[in-house]
Amino acid sequence: MCGIVGYIGKELSAQAAPIILDGLAKLEYRGYDSAGMAIYDGEKINTRKAIGRLKILENLTRGGEDMPGAAGIGHTRWASHGAPSDINAHPHTNAAGTIAVVHNGIIENYISLKKKLANKGFQFVSETDTEVLAHLLEYYYKGNPLEAITKVLHRVEGAYALGIMFADHPEEIYAARKDSPLIVGQNESGSFIASDVPAILKYTRTVYYMDNQEVAALRGDGLRFYSLDEEEVEKEPVTIDWDSDAAEKAGYEHFMLKEMYEQPKTIIDTISPRLQGTKGNVSDIVIEELHMTDEELRAVQKIHIVACGSAYHAGVTGKYVLEGLARIPVEVDLASEFRYRNPILGEGSLVIVISQSGETADTMAALRDSKAKGYKVLGIVNVVGSSIAREADACLYTWAGPEIAVATTKAYSAQLAALYLLAMKFARVRGLMSDEVFAGLLADLRRLPDQIELLLAQKQSIQHFANRYLGARDIFFIGRGIDYAISLEGSLKLKEISYIHSEAYAAGELKHGTISLIEDGTLVVAVSTQPELYQKTISNIQEVKARGAFVMAVTNEENKAMEKVSDYVVSIPETNPYFANSLAIIPLQLFAYYVAVGRGCDVDKPRNLAKSVTIE
Ligand code: AGP
Repeated sequence: MCGIVGYIGKELSAQAAPIILDGLAKLEYRGYDSAGMAIYDGEKINTRKAIGRLKILENLTRGGEDMPGAAGIGHTRWASHGAPSDINAHPHTNAAGTIAVVHNGIIENYISLKKKLANKGFQFVSETDTEVLAHLLEYYYKGNPLEAITKVLHRVEGAYALGIMFADHPEEIYAARKDSPLIVGQNESGSFIASDVPAILKYTRTVYYMDNQEVAALRGDGLRFYSLDEEEVEKEPVTIDWDSDAAEKAGYEHFMLKEMYEQPKTIIDTISPRLQGTKGNVSDIVIEELHMTDEELRAVQKIHIVACGSAYHAGVTGKYVLEGLARIPVEVDLASEFRYRNPILGEGSLVIVISQSGETADTMAALRDSKAKGYKVLGIVNVVGSSIAREADACLYTWAGPEIAVATTKAYSAQLAALYLLAMKFARVRGLMSDEVFAGLLADLRRLPDQIELLLAQKQSIQHFANRYLGARDIFFIGRGIDYAISLEGSLKLKEISYIHSEAYAAGELKHGTISLIEDGTLVVAVSTQPELYQKTISNIQEVKARGAFVMAVTNEENKAMEKVSDYVVSIPETNPYFANSLAIIPLQLFAYYVAVGRGCDVDKPRNLAKSVTIE
């Protein structure tokens, strides 16, 4: 995610730049690809920004010495709209450089706003959604910053945390927030804004958490908060008692847990900007990054999904969803296999490579081989500007933000959401999905974030259950169809962070050998979210129970029959079976996490593993 830091000193002799650079350094854990600052020097706003590490900006400005001034805003950018570059780095300004903006979040309607401003003669220099805000502020600015800010915020849709400066109002800097965290702080020397506590913890432990659609006006000696109707808002400060390490994890014990809790937001961020129409009446799914016309989408005769690890598991689910909704044959391959089996890619084949990091060597090799054979390659990637994102013919970004924990959770969930959108898009252009079915699927899709919140709230009971298996030798996951794909991911999560041996098995395949490993007390996790397979999976549960297994079931609330045959049942809320993976994986992530925590494992950095496997 992007990082924001702003400061305005009480004394005109105060220097904002070093404080901002220091604060941005404390936000580096959030991941970024460029950085910049805007500082008011007493006459004008100076802006410096550069692609790359913060050190580059520090060197460029001699630690801020070359940017004197008592007020400023700074930013570390995690690219979403527009690849990493100097020009796409924040701050962004209006043409005259008299208004500067830094932004964390996604302005969902920036394309239509940009078109309106361009029609009024505004010129754009970057590919970002944020630059639109700078020009829109100029458009509404008549000398009253608060009035201009509120007018702009009434017109933007999406998530924002903003730092804003006006050259003719150097006595204040402004902040605004909706769905993207932003805090405000103050001490005897001045006032601060920051995306997160670590940035300003060394200056103050008294902070104000901004609420949605609030605006803050910061002076060196005072703070004021306003609603979007320009009414003043009273806010209570909060005292932070975290140390900085805990603060980077926003109070969570591990990045993995923090990222699990970010899954609702990453699904919203991945699907919302691609739903055309108003919230209440979505008319279509628009995935501009596909660079494929409806005709080209209709011409796709076969899809090859290629990936590694969890991305491969998302691809296995993608196969069922794409074949089920869009009736396109799909093959899913492990990239390390695909690249050496000389695959037969027929006429009309589309290759989809899935990768969180966008740097996985095997997946990149599969991409290059496919392109060399003349096939179109679509990337589903999280890291903007990564190698796979750049080399794919088209790239559908999963806007999950940087994922710090080695074991993926939020990026995996965002990959699933991207695959759902793709399947629905293909089905619609191929005339296979009625408006009614489309509306029903959209409703289910949009319910997922809240439903995930409900499942995350069950962490205590899952932790209690997990503590019974800290000494387990083998744990098996079984399921059929999409439930098999879910089992693959649940088993990998457990293995990679708790070091307990685990296997995922197609439930119907168990009796062809592996069932010989089931002994008294062996834990078998049975996933059953597909109604037409409920009974079959119950039969498989009875098979393992007969051999002494202890069965944890993850199933739909409606599937009461499971309670009769299982020893511990985690129910998931009702959703379309094609989307059930997004819900069923939550208790499995929690189970793996608490087993690993209980075993004292290094959850965020498991032994032998790297976040991105950039070698064969
Ligand atoms: C998943 O938790 C692991 N970190 C690993 O399996 C990962 O999914 C795999 O290495 C693929 O990485 P990528 O998505 O960055 O290509």
